Amino acid sequence: MDKFAIHGGNVLRGTVSVSGSKNSSLPILAATLLTRERCVLHRVPDLSDIRYMLDMLRYLGAEVEFADGTVTVEAKKVAWEAPYDLVRRMRASVCVLGPLLARCGRTKVSLPGGCVIGDRPIDLHLRGLEALGSRIVLSKGYVIAEASELVGARIALRGPHGSTVLGTDNVMMAASLARGTTIIEDAASEPEVADLARFLRSMGARIRGEGTGRLEIEGVDALHGAEHTVISDRIEAGTFAVAAAITRGELLLAKAPAEHMGSTISALREAGVSVVEEEGGLRVRACDPLRPFQLRTSTYPGFPTDMQAQFCALAVTVPGRSQIADDIFPTRFMHISELKRMGAHADLLANVAVIDGIPRLSGAPVMASDLRASAALVLAGLQAENTTTVSRVYHIDRGYEQIDAKLRAVGADIARQP
Ligand code: EPZ
Repeated sequence: MDKFAIHGGNVLRGTVSVSGSKNSSLPILAATLLTRERCVLHRVPDLSDIRYMLDMLRYLGAEVEFADGTVTVEAKKVAWEAPYDLVRRMRASVCVLGPLLARCGRTKVSLPGGCVIGDRPIDLHLRGLEALGSRIVLSKGYVIAEASELVGARIALRGPHGSTVLGTDNVMMAASLARGTTIIEDAASEPEVADLARFLRSMGARIRGEGTGRLEIEGVDALHGAEHTVISDRIEAGTFAVAAAITRGELLLAKAPAEHMGSTISALREAGVSVVEEEGGLRVRACDPLRPFQLRTSTYPGFPTDMQAQFCALAVTVPGRSQIADDIFPTRFMHISELKRMGAHADLLANVAVIDGIPRLSGAPVMASDLRASAALVLAGLQAENTTTVSRVYHIDRGYEQIDAKLRAVGADIARQP
């Protein structure tokens, strides 16, 4: 089981190239099931989550090729069941629910179950698909959905923690082939949802309102193949921005989607980090002293929950008291206990991390638990004295393309060990 050995203290300087978005690629790959024609996707990052999704498409009967960031999918025929042992490997697989229902008229998809960042219900997904006319039964850990015909409807997708990203994706994909018009109120407005909408439109779907909280989808009889280039990954870019900040260095984040990073950029500037938009990317520079900050996650365009752990790591190194709350996933704080093992002064009050900065973390053996918590531990290791060993780095490989190589290229002392 691979681990990273990080010797902290190096100041990072140079240019990092931001990859295509994982969270845009995954639902777009699912959307290729909506047509029997060939789809070609560019800038797909080579991540284990992506390879899990490609395995799922192959299992369902699609022909799939993946080389040099380009994925070609041809789903001439598809099976309608997504089994537990495939879905359990990656809960985002649940976004095949909408496409399979629309394509096959029925589907059986394993319930994704929870994960370390919290309960991951799909009640809003099911509410939306039922509103489109599908009959849904939960049985033996599976969602079984059937619809002789999907019919457009007016649907509200707001839950106790705001809207749902993959729920909006599932309903939008199913509605694309429904009879009539669907209005989704309280739709997720994340850039990745908008990227999916653009891909669906390139397939012939009639969708308006992406990027807002209200989507209007006029169903069509069939969708055709399309070619699409995936947007850049705003969370990977944000993670490397924190790497520059935590080492008090300077990085140019090439291809960073600044237009999707407003709240992350504001948070960095609140901490005293310099962020300047340049031709081709974001230049992030930090020098002491940084300032403590207050953050609260929310749905887009608010501060992303996927950046919460990384900013906890930064807060640990900033003199003064910072407070970081997560209202999207209130228990997404596995990283706090590991940061405390590195000497962090941090406490959890319900869903709020209260952090008093210290001058230097101490290297220690720490355990990755989920994707973004693992990234936070790597960031902490970059600043810590001596060596930090992060184990179970397969969590990181799910969402970051060659993060160790990218960090080494800008001066980090990080090595992957078996
Ligand atoms: C997407 O997950 C992302 N994953 C997550 O990124 C991200 O953290 C999350 O959106 C929030 O931005 C992908 O895009 C593949 P949600 P998703 O449905 O769609 C509750 C990463 O690190 N909820 O928007 O599964 C839910 O419990 C991953 O890259 C319901 O109550 O998240 C949560 O509190 C982790 N009922 C909130 O809504 C539902 O039916 C947001 O969840 C669905 C969700």
